[in-house]
Amino acid sequence: MATMHDVARRAGVSVTSVSHVINNTRPVSDDLRQRVLAAMEELGYQPNQLARSLRRGQTHTLGIIIPDNVNPFFAEVARGIEDFSFQNGYSLILCNSDSDLQKELHYAGVLVEKQVDGIVFVAAGHSMEQVVGLQRRQVPVVVVDRELSGVAADTVLADNQRGGWLATRHLLDLGHRRIGCITGPSDLTPSADRVAGYRQALAEAGLPVAEELVVRGDFHYDSGYRAAQQLLALPDPPTALFACNDLMAVGAICAAADLGRSVPADLSVVGFDNVSLASYTNPPLTTVAQPMYEIGALAARLLTERIQGMQAPPRRYVLNTRLVVRRSTAAPPAPAPR
Ligand code: RIB
Repeated sequence: MATMHDVARRAGVSVTSVSHVINNTRPVSDDLRQRVLAAMEELGYQPNQLARSLRRGQTHTLGIIIPDNVNPFFAEVARGIEDFSFQNGYSLILCNSDSDLQKELHYAGVLVEKQVDGIVFVAAGHSMEQVVGLQRRQVPVVVVDRELSGVAADTVLADNQRGGWLATRHLLDLGHRRIGCITGPSDLTPSADRVAGYRQALAEAGLPVAEELVVRGDFHYDSGYRAAQQLLALPDPPTALFACNDLMAVGAICAAADLGRSVPADLSVVGFDNVSLASYTNPPLTTVAQPMYEIGALAARLLTERIQGMQAPPRRYVLNTRLVVRRSTAAPPAPAPR
């Protein structure tokens, strides 16, 4: 296995110069750089990353913890993180907590052992202790999507309440008055805020919130399917559904189809996220778009600024959401003749 000394000898330079070329720690002439790189190539020399990291106190690696790596929302956020990180010389370690606090704690420990320089953290639930524990160990953390009370960290969110309001206002403008809501986990701020937007739009329209129309889901497809079955079985079923994420909206569309209801002729459905899947459902899904890629890229930028020593009070960003109208919503069906 070639060493730095072998490279120095082959290139006719000092070991220190080889180190400066490898670690970019001091400007060197192009000629010297080329001689060193040629010698490394000829000898098949590989810098010892671990030794290099220990010397520099940084691994140039970021950790990401997300609750569900098969939900395309997190994949699209991770893409924004990855593009920014690659462009700025950082590698990534992606951890899936499965929305489980114990698994989340395990991975937080793994990332500390791997000496990542910082972590983008999407909470599984009440994850305040996990984040505070990381901060106590001097690990910079940026919180994304699920806000955590009691945590002083840079935070990147979407405007969930306005998004819930946009979805519900759209259905009201189409003429719907019986609008169901399929929520996400009520302990997560994105779901709670979307439901608050739903309630706000109904209140502004002078409509009471019929609690039997608000059914809990868990952000997964099956819960959307079951919730839609429950809502459509009501004596006075809703003519429209607002699902607090796209996967549950897809489940609702499938449940309606299995019950012989056409979307949107018999039932309008609105989702939330605007993952790429939303364009390909049948019918294509009207939904509320979150700027997923931008959320990830911004979180990665904030994190690297902290890693590079930026001192400032915690920053909180709330990015805009917007309605994307496709073909899963329409005016309510004419009432059946009495
Ligand atoms: O689809 C997954 C949901 O979990 C998204 O709406 C996102 O906001 C996250 O909270």
